Amino acid sequence: MPLDIIIGAQWGDEGKGRIVDLLAKHARYSARFSGGDNAGHTVAVAGQTHRLHLIPSGIVHEHTTCVIGNGVVVNPETLLDEIARLRVAGVVVDPGRLRISYAAHVITPAHLALDAAQEKARGAGAIGTTLRGIGPAYTSKVARSGLRMGEMMEPSRFGERVAAQVESINELLVNIYGAQPLNAQEIAAAYEKHAKELGAFIADTAGLLQRALEGQALVLAEGAQGTLLDLDHGTYPYVTSSNATAPAALSGLGIGLGFTGRVIGVTKCFQTRVGEGPFPTELDSPTADHLRGSGENPWDEYGTTTGRPRRVGWLDIPLLRYAVSVNGLTEIALTKLDVLTGLPALSICTAYDRQGERIHRLPMGPADLAPFRPVYETLPGWEEDLWDVRSFDQLPDQACDYILRIEDLVEVPVRIVSVGPGRDQVIHID
Ligand code: GDP
Ligand code: IMO
Ligand code: MG
Repeated sequence: MPLDIIIGAQWGDEGKGRIVDLLAKHARYSARFSGGDNAGHTVAVAGQTHRLHLIPSGIVHEHTTCVIGNGVVVNPETLLDEIARLRVAGVVVDPGRLRISYAAHVITPAHLALDAAQEKARGAGAIGTTLRGIGPAYTSKVARSGLRMGEMMEPSRFGERVAAQVESINELLVNIYGAQPLNAQEIAAAYEKHAKELGAFIADTAGLLQRALEGQALVLAEGAQGTLLDLDHGTYPYVTSSNATAPAALSGLGIGLGFTGRVIGVTKCFQTRVGEGPFPTELDSPTADHLRGSGENPWDEYGTTTGRPRRVGWLDIPLLRYAVSVNGLTEIALTKLDVLTGLPALSICTAYDRQGERIHRLPMGPADLAPFRPVYETLPGWEEDLWDVRSFDQLPDQACDYILRIEDLVEVPVRIVSVGPGRDQVIHID
């Protein structure tokens, strides 16, 4: 059994969590390999909605072991809170079920303060980060001054290291950004306590997963964010600070080449984005309100982590083609098809126009999308409610045509279609 990789093919929030939950039914391990608690993955099962930020979405199934890999940045406070919330919901989370890489990096309140100070300093050029300290924590990692989860196994020494890091970031906060310094000793004491609680979860997760794969176990690698938020391949600088694309699953989990099976690009059947940055097919019209929803339903387009309304627009095929190539997608899981019900006509951006020239593939990646105007093709919509549809042939003809047209345009099969947030609201296509 291989390593199946689940990736966001757009700007995040494509429905990765629910697809991981679906596939975890047959998996032994479910593993996060990048990002931190900037992620918000929703899994709706049997009337309960779990909002996961750090713990892999496979946790909701009882038989899985979940891994937080070396590529992740961990805020211990969020993690402890998430463990507590899952336990209240009746999900078992103990060191038998959750293993955290000793090499994952630690987010401290100093990183959060720096994230806020840097966003403020960017002024009109703000990225619109989640303010979870993600960029500064990866900066510490790359600068080789980061703290790793393995250090928690010696709590008092860890506390001293936390204090030293906070003191050092205080210099920046005060002298560069004119912000208030943090109380290093108070933070160190709290983090020493967190270390005592989390020490038992720390493990050599790379070794664990390598042995599992050698023993033919199915491992799911759960992407966070999306291809267009990838640090190298996204709409730079409006990106996150880690690699969200499929190859990062290997480096972020410590797995060698050769085990990869399916590479599934989770794709919302329209486009959304939260935070700043280019968005060629963005809509500002009653159609946008239809796609976003009013905010009354948990699946409406408001950020899981920050509650911000998401920007919405039509599906963008040139960007999806790009996601297919940088990830090596073997298939697409298309989500939220039910949301299109009631729209009289559906537009798909099939190409861009750049001063009269038709562009099908981005010549220089997606960082500068300003010169490109979307070229749309319009398909008829449908009125039927899709929530109870469970097979392709039960779908209205127009919905089938929409899916087939996407397949045609990206030249990758759509294997899974979701028609509601619930675990069983899924159509498998052979
Ligand atoms: P992720 O970050 O990629 O895991 O996605 P999020 O959980 O942030 O956002 C996806 C939202 O859409 C969640 O509220 C899901 O419950 C919801 N969702 C996923 N698939 C479907 C679907 O097919 N239909 C509807 N209506 N909601 C869905
Ligand atoms: P999931 O895993 C959507 C966006 C932020 C911002 C940019 C940088 O739920 O799909 P950061 O805090 O990472 O430095 O912010 O990235 N962003 C996300 N947008 N879904 C996410 O995660 C995101 N994680 C970060 O809004 O634009
Ligand atoms: Mg999300």
